[in-house]
Amino acid sequence: MGEKKKEGLGWMEWLRGWMYIVYEMLFQRIMASHLQSPLHLPPVNHLTCIVTGSTSGIGREIARQLAESGAHVVMAVRNPKAAHDLIQNWQNERTGVSLPLNIEVMELDLLSFDSVVRFADAWNATPRPLHVLINNAGIFSIGEPQKFSKDGNEEHIQVNHLAPALLSVLLLPSLIRGSPSRIVNVNSVMHYVGFVDTEDMNVVSGKRKYTSLIGYTSSKLAQEPGGFGLQVMFSSVLHKRLPAEAGISVVCVSPGIVQTNVARDLPKIVQAAYHLIPYFIFSAQEGSRSAIFSATDPQVPEYCELLKADEWLACAYISQDCRPTNPSEEAHNIETSHEVWEKTLEMVGLPADAVERLIEGEEVTCKYGACKG
Ligand SMILES: NC(=O)c1ccc[n+]([C@@H]2O[C@H](COP(=O)([O-])OP(=O)(O)OC[C@H]3O[C@@H](n4cnc5c(N)ncnc54)[C@H](OP(=O)(O)O)[C@@H]3O)[C@@H](O)[C@H]2O)c1
Repeated sequence: MGEKKKEGLGWMEWLRGWMYIVYEMLFQRIMASHLQSPLHLPPVNHLTCIVTGSTSGIGREIARQLAESGAHVVMAVRNPKAAHDLIQNWQNERTGVSLPLNIEVMELDLLSFDSVVRFADAWNATPRPLHVLINNAGIFSIGEPQKFSKDGNEEHIQVNHLAPALLSVLLLPSLIRGSPSRIVNVNSVMHYVGFVDTEDMNVVSGKRKYTSLIGYTSSKLAQEPGGFGLQVMFSSVLHKRLPAEAGISVVCVSPGIVQTNVARDLPKIVQAAYHLIPYFIFSAQEGSRSAIFSATDPQVPEYCELLKADEWLACAYISQDCRPTNPSEEAHNIETSHEVWEKTLEMVGLPADAVERLIEGEEVTCKYGACKG
């Protein structure tokens, strides 16, 4: 008889997860005291970088710093006008600098798989290589009732996990053109308390009562209401499936606990706490460091290759202090990670062998949009 399937985190795992989160909150500033803000970047003039959700918070800082350091930046956003206004402001503030920023705007709404496919098709249709994809956009609607996208998925799971996963796979042809290239996923320490139930990714079975916290943590690990856990597991399998010759590094990062608009839907009392403890909370610029580091530091691809060669299951995870760390115990669950991989491809309408076919240069058809990989 097979082993009984795990139905949640053990209390020790759960307690350790919360201790990790509280520790990060109290000590992140001390842990990251060796870092400058803004981060000092290596040369990036040769890089083309797509940054999702770059009209606010961490993503806005990532886009601005990369562009001001000379990279070609593509702001992939749901509100193009807001992005154009930001660019105008950034240009205006660059008095005395003769070169304009090399930055453009493309529309992307992660609540719609059609929009993701349209974006990827438009990008892949150009001969331009892609060097860095930063999956930054995310939502955390704590306390809100459960909402579903028009594609039928719980919104946290779609925005934080499914849509970025679809985007990453569809952009593989351009990432191969830009090789060595990187996929950087902005994740969260909240994934340490995330549990993934692959039979109930959208938290609809009634087995677990939906709370926005479940949606967020799972989407980032993969099955609490953030999708953070799901994201780590999917990234780990993607990291394994990409052959070393493809030259694509896959990294998840924790930005730390950061003062941004992500808290806009939090209960008023939590928002007040954010303002009461400014010393402990990072600014958006401080919170952007782990993603920018992972996108540009020359040692990151070497580290990813080491993990691949070591048969280590999980992908690279870079902490808010720009040091490698271990993702949660749950993220190392091989069986669940492979289930997350299969289920995710099915939910985003891609065939199970999409990655292998795209690596071979074959076309892949997606259920959404009029997609050609
Ligand atoms: N702040 C923290 O403490 C913290 C901690 C851990 C992880 N994170 C993660 O960091 C990432 C960035 O968050 P943030 O703190 O910078 O929050 P933020 O200020 O709310 O920024 C989130 C960005 O995502 C965009 N976005 C939301 N839904 C979208 C959709 N359907 N399609 C396209 N873009 C969408 C938003 O667009 P609009 O500008 O149009 O609203 C915004 O630009 C998220 O993945 C979040 O989960 C944040």
